[in-house]
Amino acid sequence: MNGNRTNSSISISIVGGTGRMGMLLAKILKDKVETINIVSREVGRAQEAAQELNVSWLPLEEAHQSNIVIISVPIPETVKICKSIGQKMHDQSLLVELASLKTGITEIIKSSIPNCVEYLSLHPLFGPQVKDIVGKRFVAVEPASGSLTTEFLEMLQECGSVIKKATVKEHDLAMASIQVLHHFALITFSSALSRFAEENGLSEYLTESLEKTLQNIENIYENWDTIYAIQSLNPNAQKARKILAEVANQSIDAKNIAGEPLRQAISLLRKP
Ligand SMILES: NC(=O)c1ccc[n+]([C@@H]2O[C@H](COP(=O)([O-])OP(=O)(O)OC[C@H]3O[C@@H](n4cnc5c(N)ncnc54)[C@H](OP(=O)(O)O)[C@@H]3O)[C@@H](O)[C@H]2O)c1
Repeated sequence: MNGNRTNSSISISIVGGTGRMGMLLAKILKDKVETINIVSREVGRAQEAAQELNVSWLPLEEAHQSNIVIISVPIPETVKICKSIGQKMHDQSLLVELASLKTGITEIIKSSIPNCVEYLSLHPLFGPQVKDIVGKRFVAVEPASGSLTTEFLEMLQECGSVIKKATVKEHDLAMASIQVLHHFALITFSSALSRFAEENGLSEYLTESLEKTLQNIENIYENWDTIYAIQSLNPNAQKARKILAEVANQSIDAKNIAGEPLRQAISLLRKP
């Protein structure tokens, strides 16, 4: 806790609060703090989203005055907006961004905001379609931690979420497997399907298993800008895609296809 302040006296501004993750966080946090402000480049959009969520709104020029400012904008815009708002924030306030990628973002933001401002580089490991965050994971990189950072992370845990702490390097290496490889496999599957399949009423043959995969493909398609940024900016992405291409090439002959890698993947992903 910071001094004698309780959660109920905290104000949070969400820049990009009209977007998918911004609106989700506003819904989740609005009963936890005194004020949630939706912030947009267009006042009308902020007002509309604030009304829908039954929270407040602020013009962009005033966002820096809140105790906590969450930046939830497209990955390529994150550094610029964090810099411009972070430089004006008050002592002991907290800047948070949600970028799905940390290399080239976290270090630059850390070096361009005042030392008296706390900074948390957060990655929600779920999308905006979730109803609540019970059991949902966040990766927390803490380049400039302090009491408000601790308080904010505790708030997320009180909502049922699980916090995994990591460095920038650890995060992006893990995400090369968890996101780059996974998404790339589905993107290449989609390309291959388009090339291979005849237009012959495939939807009528859909299995339960492919229905689950299709939902993932639809999520990737709807979230394309973020997915593309992860593929193009994660420093380990090229290596991961190359390995996938090599493995696929080696497996063209059916005699080279084995079940053992499935067991290995299950063991890697299920191990605590
Ligand atoms: N979507 C996911 O599944 C997911 C999961 C984990 C993390 N994230 C991260 O969450 C962040 C936001 O993603 P999102 O999916 O919520 O994005 P989004 O739905 O596109 O919303 C982003 C918001 O940012 C604002 N914005 C758009 N372009 C901008 C620009 N050039 N400059 C300033 N503001 C701009 C827009 O608000 P106004 O037009 O009203 O200003 C928009 O509503 C990203 O960093 C992403 O990596 C997303």
